[in-house]
Amino acid sequence: MKRLDDFRMRLGRHELVPIMVGGMGVDISSSDLALEAARLGGVGHISDAMIKTVTDRRYKTKYVKAKQAMYKGNVESMDKSSVKFDLGHLAEATRLHVEATMSRKTGSGLVFINCMEKLTMNAPRETLAVRLAAALDAGIDGITLAAGLHLGSLALIEQHPRFRDAQLGIIVSSLRALQLFLKKNARLNRLPDYIVVEGPLAGGHLGFGMDWAQYDLATIVAEIRAWLQSESLDIPLIPAGGIFTGSDAVAFVEAGAAGVQVATRFTVTRECGLPDDIKQEYFRANDDDIEVNQISPTGYPMRMIKSSPGIGDGIRPNCEAYGYLLDSQGRCAYIEAYNRELAAHPDARRLSVKDKTCLCTHMRNFAIWTCGQTASRLKDTSVRAPDGRYQLLSAEHVFRDYQFSVEGRVALPEAEVAAPTPATHDAA
Ligand SMILES: Cc1cc2nc3c(=O)[nH]c(=O)nc-3n(C[C@H](O)[C@H](O)[C@H](O)COP(=O)(O)O)c2cc1C
Repeated sequence: MKRLDDFRMRLGRHELVPIMVGGMGVDISSSDLALEAARLGGVGHISDAMIKTVTDRRYKTKYVKAKQAMYKGNVESMDKSSVKFDLGHLAEATRLHVEATMSRKTGSGLVFINCMEKLTMNAPRETLAVRLAAALDAGIDGITLAAGLHLGSLALIEQHPRFRDAQLGIIVSSLRALQLFLKKNARLNRLPDYIVVEGPLAGGHLGFGMDWAQYDLATIVAEIRAWLQSESLDIPLIPAGGIFTGSDAVAFVEAGAAGVQVATRFTVTRECGLPDDIKQEYFRANDDDIEVNQISPTGYPMRMIKSSPGIGDGIRPNCEAYGYLLDSQGRCAYIEAYNRELAAHPDARRLSVKDKTCLCTHMRNFAIWTCGQTASRLKDTSVRAPDGRYQLLSAEHVFRDYQFSVEGRVALPEAEVAAPTPATHDAA
């Protein structure tokens, strides 16, 4: 019986434990989590989602205040087209986060950054060019292009000195998306170094419609693999979404994948950036508590715990401070939904907006609890203290469980407190 540790993932000149911890914005895949994955020989991700908020919190910068002060006069207006990002600050913040992370890196693994195209920031091309270049300048090992087709993204950094040396990969959910990406980038003579194939059970935004349940990760991976072979393209494939045990991962690697990308199991680790109380919500979630809905203004379905406090909340759009989802015309679907409710209930003290959410504000405040479908099994991965709380895990424990477990087993952690009882729960 094989363990995941019997395999190695080759990315360029790097030989890695075939485990990639996926990017989780806004700072849920923290530097500490990414650095643990790298120390243990795998790949970790930080994320550049809401980077200025992240650096303000982590490194005491004042970028959000500065932007808010600059656009103070616009707060009452629902026309956000004038609210722009200072590209110098954006580059500085990105460099700060990447440099601070990379300076602490140990081990033979790698740290990548997750860059979502859907963060259009009221100037999609300009801001993405700055984000990608600043991450490369600051020494990131690689960039994972996420949440979008990224048809023009590589061209934005074509002239960067590290364009051919850094690991550059893309997340796709279908063969068609991959074919489009390769076609649009053919002129650059630079293939992606890896392809993350994300299936319908993943956390965050999904690359599927509301018919996501009709798709199956293994089938998509097999289809993409067969096509790559038919084109004589040798690009490492990294499936993601619902891979819960080392044995799940081994099955994919035995079917030709280079490694796996996993995330949900790491949401309940100490290193994960979620507040500890929210990690308990993840532990407690049952299958019925998780939904895929369309409240993200990006237009992509998103999976989350139904009791997330950000669902249905009608806070005033806060684009002067954030504004990460403003499109190239300064619009966001939440602003439209909010305006509609405001017009319908002009005297309400607190609005409720059901169909969209202010994702910037609520991701920043950890009020949208996005997760993979397997979050309902997290309770099987730990022990419970007498007060009912689940014991947080170390990233090392979860990583090594993926690396060494067999027969679908999940290793429980050593109890930290006196005589905890094993987790009891309804079978999911
Ligand atoms: C809390 C959370 C946040 C996520 N945020 C992002 C993100 O910002 N960008 C992204 O590309 N993927 C995001 N994902 C997807 C993961 O990177 C990963 O591909 C996927 O969740 C793997 O499936 P698993 O969670 O079932 O292991 C997120 C997943 C979770 C659980």
